[in-house]
Amino acid sequence: MNELKVFTGNSIPVLAKRICEYLDMPLSQATVNKFVDGEVQVKLGENVRGVDVFIVQSTYPPAENLFELLLMIDAAHRASAGRITAVIPYFGYSRQDKKNEPRVPISAKLVANLIATAGADRVVTLDLHADQIQGFFDIPVDHLYATPVIVEHFKEIGIDNLIIVAPDVGGAKRAEGIARRMGDLQIGIINKRRPAPDQAYVTKVVGEANGKDVLIVDDIISTGGTIVNATVALKQDGANRIYCYCTHPVLADTAYEKIEKSLLSKMFVTDTIPLKCARGLTSSKIEVLSVSNLLGKAILQIHRSESISSLLI
Ligand code: R5P
Repeated sequence: MNELKVFTGNSIPVLAKRICEYLDMPLSQATVNKFVDGEVQVKLGENVRGVDVFIVQSTYPPAENLFELLLMIDAAHRASAGRITAVIPYFGYSRQDKKNEPRVPISAKLVANLIATAGADRVVTLDLHADQIQGFFDIPVDHLYATPVIVEHFKEIGIDNLIIVAPDVGGAKRAEGIARRMGDLQIGIINKRRPAPDQAYVTKVVGEANGKDVLIVDDIISTGGTIVNATVALKQDGANRIYCYCTHPVLADTAYEKIEKSLLSKMFVTDTIPLKCARGLTSSKIEVLSVSNLLGKAILQIHRSESISSLLI
């Protein structure tokens, strides 16, 4: 494959720059603005004919983030790029991934179709809300996990007597994977009920948290309801310090306050979605770990047509 170029929109400029630092190359030039009426306007500022183009963009709200990605892919496609890879650290609209009640969309499938229709040849993404979303694409998808980032960090901190907890049954596989990589630690699972979207309560903690430090692992924290309820339930069961790790800090506005006031000792998130510090929303308990090296490695290996299976675990 010819030359490699990395472009980005406005959703994760810091992560895109960090990826380019890892790759030891400049971020390619693109204008991603708005017309006066608010429509997204895109122009790639460099030749991409025959180039191996990687477009780094997370698709968290507003929908302009998704639209920027689609228009950048379209621009690269119409400019005869050799290959276009959409690098989507956070794949938004993934929570509606099945028709589990009448008259609801499957937004994850629709967004997958849009990305392929725009002209992407392949997708790299991280910690999809559900593994099967890979199958919603008819183009190759490299689905990476941010697990090594948190495992390395916890090994550095060195906490003994730790138990890994999934905040709901759906997260059991993720918790099991992290527990195995941290040296076959015990896992616990919380039974959560969700009576309505954005509302959750705990019915039971399965596993032995009494007298232990706990690391709760989740893919997304949105309202913070799941994690705060889990923390209360674990404290009632006698847990010591409670840490939390989540890959995608969606963090709806009130989540910051909830986390700050919660019984959590620390919450680790990655930079697939920027925190809302610019809007004055923050919590001293949140620490950001970067996935730039992981994504940088994936981009390099895909560009060189090397196996990336070592990154898929
Ligand atoms: C649920 O299936 C996810 O893994 C998260 O637990 C959920 O999205 C968190 O949402 P919230 O923070 O609003 O409870």
